[in-house]
Amino acid sequence: MTGTILLTGGTGFIGSHTAVELIKRGYEIVIADNLSNSCADVIGKIGIITGVTPRFYKADVCDRESLRAIFSENDITEVIHFAGLKAVGESVIVPLSYYRNNIDSALSLLEVMDEFGVKRLIFSSSATVYTAGDVSPITEDMPTGGCTNPYGWTKYMIEQIIRDKSVADPEFSAVLLRYFNPIGAHESGLIGEKPNGIPSNIMPTITQTVAGRLDMVHIFGGDWPTKDGTGVRDYIHISDLAAGHAAAIDYARTHTGAEPINLGTGTGYSVLELIRAFERVNCVNVNYDISSRRAGDLGVCYASAEKAERLLGWHAVKGIDDMVRDAWMWEKKSDIPKQT
Ligand code: UD1
Repeated sequence: MTGTILLTGGTGFIGSHTAVELIKRGYEIVIADNLSNSCADVIGKIGIITGVTPRFYKADVCDRESLRAIFSENDITEVIHFAGLKAVGESVIVPLSYYRNNIDSALSLLEVMDEFGVKRLIFSSSATVYTAGDVSPITEDMPTGGCTNPYGWTKYMIEQIIRDKSVADPEFSAVLLRYFNPIGAHESGLIGEKPNGIPSNIMPTITQTVAGRLDMVHIFGGDWPTKDGTGVRDYIHISDLAAGHAAAIDYARTHTGAEPINLGTGTGYSVLELIRAFERVNCVNVNYDISSRRAGDLGVCYASAEKAERLLGWHAVKGIDDMVRDAWMWEKKSDIPKQT
């Protein structure tokens, strides 16, 4: 099938890796991003990795006129919607910005897709939509809602908007990809995650600590009911996650309706296991202490990866060693200044 896939937010961490994966598989893509949390030089790096430099629009997805221009100039057949604000802590401080930006951009996109008769959408959702609880593996039919922060609620609400659109339009096809914990970086070391300011997620916290930019990793709780008392998560290599999007495109081309699908490995690792793997693979020491639990955290959270295998024919192939090796290689190549 010919046609072009639009990646909104395509210069971000997940978007850029997905761009590489799609180009590698021969898909034509175009990227739209307002660069609020990423750099335009990512486009050139995608070009270096794949040999194809994608067409890029500096555009805000909330702006329907900009979207119309993109849809007019390209034969868009699918959209992968990554664009959105994503910092959990910030979303608690400026909730209105999160609701305005994330909901507005999703609605604008869906409206313009409608105007241009584009019927297939992959949405960047999150495991955070599941109702908090320590029951894992998490299957897609488990309850959602009860989110602990505005960021999570925007993902929940957008999923609902897309489901309603799919009911109203029987030709519409949507895959709601619920990510677990993507970490690592492209094996080239050219693209990866660049958190703004002091990171809140565990992997950039580890890499910046080892790089000397942070003093130490504070492990949030050593008294969880887990194998070693530290929190357990389903870490997935960013390149595996990207491959899941390509599989979702193929699925959306042959199905209708809105389908939630987990992208995780199905295996949980504790924070201490992650740190130990990082030390072993990269031959470094990670300075850490055990601190108190973080508000809103869960002890255990990992995916059932069964539905992704069944519907998409996809499963993660990279292991924890690949994740910690690639994360460290990316950190060493990046030039983030020391935090104060
Ligand atoms: C967090 C968000 C979640 C979001 C996801 C994606 C919260 C409560 N949850 O998930 O909504 O979708 O990121 O980015 O913010 N940890 C430490 N020390 C640290 C940082 C983390 O011990 O400095 C631990 C956490 O307690 C957890 C694990 O590391 O056990 C992973 O944490 P993190 O990377 O922040 O991801 P989540 O909490 O799973």
